Amino acid sequence: MNSMFDDAPLLALVQQDDVEAAVRTAEALLAGGISAIEVLLRTDGALDCLREISKEVPKAVVGAGTVLSAAQAEQALDCGASFIVSPGIDEGVIEVARSAGAPVYPGVCTATELQRAHNFGLGTVKFFPATVAGGVPAIKALSSVFRAMRFIPTGGVSIANLADFLSLPAVLACGGSWLTPKELIEKRDFQGISALAEQALAVAAKAVANR
Ligand code: 3PG
Repeated sequence: MNSMFDDAPLLALVQQDDVEAAVRTAEALLAGGISAIEVLLRTDGALDCLREISKEVPKAVVGAGTVLSAAQAEQALDCGASFIVSPGIDEGVIEVARSAGAPVYPGVCTATELQRAHNFGLGTVKFFPATVAGGVPAIKALSSVFRAMRFIPTGGVSIANLADFLSLPAVLACGGSWLTPKELIEKRDFQGISALAEQALAVAAKAVANR
């Protein structure tokens, strides 16, 4: 079991330019019981957000997402990322993360990609984009072949389908931006973020217990 999901089988995505908002979002997620936080490298300020969260919120396990190249993986690790997530498979990204001893979760959604991940020696992958790539039935079918592989479905996951994904033993955790809605952050409603985290955690705990 990967220890970063010991507290909750949830990975909260943070897409932010504003460092203060990013730090407060991370604190709010942590207060709501979610410690695994993925800062998406899709904004100019993403690396600053990553650096500040890793400094200011040490109890969070913060990593970088949307990592497209080995160079970006290096930058993210320099800014304190403790894990790396990419939307697809890139050998350079995997190698950089591995040589730093950081977990790496490349995105896959086909049997061919899974086979590639398997042959890289990876035991956990992001399943992306989860809902459009076939959702729960697709993971069930793929995990009947890749029996030891663990999945982190991301892309279209929400409170409405979270329990369905987490009912599968092959699902290690679910990722998503629904835990950090832009509207709440713009209103500085960080209690609202904590409340969403608590709600997700309750749904997740029930789904995992009922497996
Ligand atoms: C990702 O980067 O993994 C996706 O953009 C997440 O998709 P979501 O916004 O539907 O959670």
